Amino acid sequence: MYKKISLEDKVIADLINLEDQRQQDHIELIASENYVSEDVMKAAGSCLTNKYGEGYPGKRYYGGCEFVDQIEVIAQERAKKLFNVNYVNVQPYSGSVANAAVYLALLQPGDRVLGLSLDSGGHLTHGYRISFSGIFYESHSYFVNDDGLLDYDEILRIAKEIKPKMIICGYSAYSQIVEFDKFRKICDEVGAYLFADISHISGPIIAGLHPSPAGLADVIMTTTHKTLRGTRGAIIMTNDEEIYKKINRSVFPGYQGGPLFHQIAAKAVSFGEALQPEFLEYQQQLITNSRVFCQTFINKGVKVISGLTKNHLFMIDVKSSYGLNGKQATEILSKVNITVNKNSIPNDTESPMVSSGIRLGSAAMTSRGFQEDEFIIIANLIDKVLREPENEALLTMVKKEIAKLTNSFPIKRSYMKH
Ligand SMILES: Cc1ncc(COP(=O)(O)O)c(C=O)c1O
Repeated sequence: MYKKISLEDKVIADLINLEDQRQQDHIELIASENYVSEDVMKAAGSCLTNKYGEGYPGKRYYGGCEFVDQIEVIAQERAKKLFNVNYVNVQPYSGSVANAAVYLALLQPGDRVLGLSLDSGGHLTHGYRISFSGIFYESHSYFVNDDGLLDYDEILRIAKEIKPKMIICGYSAYSQIVEFDKFRKICDEVGAYLFADISHISGPIIAGLHPSPAGLADVIMTTTHKTLRGTRGAIIMTNDEEIYKKINRSVFPGYQGGPLFHQIAAKAVSFGEALQPEFLEYQQQLITNSRVFCQTFINKGVKVISGLTKNHLFMIDVKSSYGLNGKQATEILSKVNITVNKNSIPNDTESPMVSSGIRLGSAAMTSRGFQEDEFIIIANLIDKVLREPENEALLTMVKKEIAKLTNSFPIKRSYMKH
C-alpha cells in the first residue's frame, strides 16, 4: 500500500507525497513512463549519491571506489546478458546525453546525419534543428509514407543522395516493427554507421517480441526508464572494441563528469529484474494490451497513425477524429485523471507545442496489472470524453470510473513472484 515519505524538509516531502498520490490516482498513458519497483527506488535513493568516481571501473581518478566499481561492473554484465552485446557503458545520465556522446564518438562537427523527422516519430536528438544534433551536425530527415510506415526503398534513395556518415533508426513515436536488417543493408550501401536508438522498444526486444539490432547496428542506445522499467538514465552498447573506446571517451570526459552511482546501482537492480521470467510475461501483456487498446479506437473509426500497433504505443490523430488539437485533448483528459502527451503527427500543420495528435502507451498501466478488459474500458472512456469535452456530467462520471480503476489497481512496489 501507498507509504507517505517523511523528511525534515516538510515542503519538499509534502510535494513528493502529492506527486505520489497523483501517480496513484491517474491513469498513466505516457508511453515513456513506467512505475519502478521499490528496490529500484531504494538503490536510487541510497548513500551512493555521496560518491565521486570519474573514470571507469579499475581506472578512476578518485579513491574509495572498490564497491562502486563492483556495482558498475555488475550493471554492465547484466546489460550485456539482456541485450546480447559485448560492451556496455552504463554511465549516461539520460538518453539525450547518451545520444550526444554517440555523435561525438562517431562523427566530426558538421558531418551529415540522417534520422526520422520529429513529426514522423523521431526524437529531438535525431536531428531536430534546435537540438545539439541539428545545430552541430548537418542533419537530414527521412519520413514515414502516407500510411505512416517506413519506406525502406525511399530511405535508401535519400541515403544515396545525402551520403550521411550515420543513419539513426529507433524512435519516440513509431508503432510498427523497425527492420534493423534493412537499415544495415542501407548503411552498407552508402558507407554509413548504423545507430539504433531503442529507448522505447528495449523491453520488447529483451523479451524477443521485437527484432534486436544487436549484431546489426554499430551502436545501440537505450534509455532505462521506459518499457525497461528501470531508473531514469541510459546505456550505450556496441560489439566493436574500437567504437567502445571512443564511446567511453565521449561519455567521460566528453560530455559527463562523475558517474551517478546511485543511478547505476538502480539500473543494475532493474536489469536484474528484467532478467527474470516475470519480465517476459510483462512484455507479452504490454503488447497484447497495446493492440487491444489500439484496436478499440480503430473499431470506433478513430484515425490511428500507422494502423494497428505492433509495440507498446500508438498515436491518434485527434484533429481529424475529434476536431481537437493535441494540447486540447491532453488538457481535457487530464481533467478526468487520464495522463497522455500531445504529439506531432506526420505532416502536422500545428507546432510541436500544440500538435494534432496524442500518443498513448501501455507500459505503465500494464505494470499496475491492467489487462485487455481494462484497456478496452479506458479506450471507451477516452473516446467518450473527446467526443463531448464540454459535457460536465460526462466528465464527472468518467472521473468516478477512473477512480474505481485506480483504486482497484494500486501501483505495485515489487514485480517478483515470491
Ligand atoms: C527514442 C528516444 N531517444 C532518446 C530519448 C531521450 O531520453 P531522455 O529524456 O532520457 O533524454 C527519448 C526520450 O523520450 C526517446 O524517446
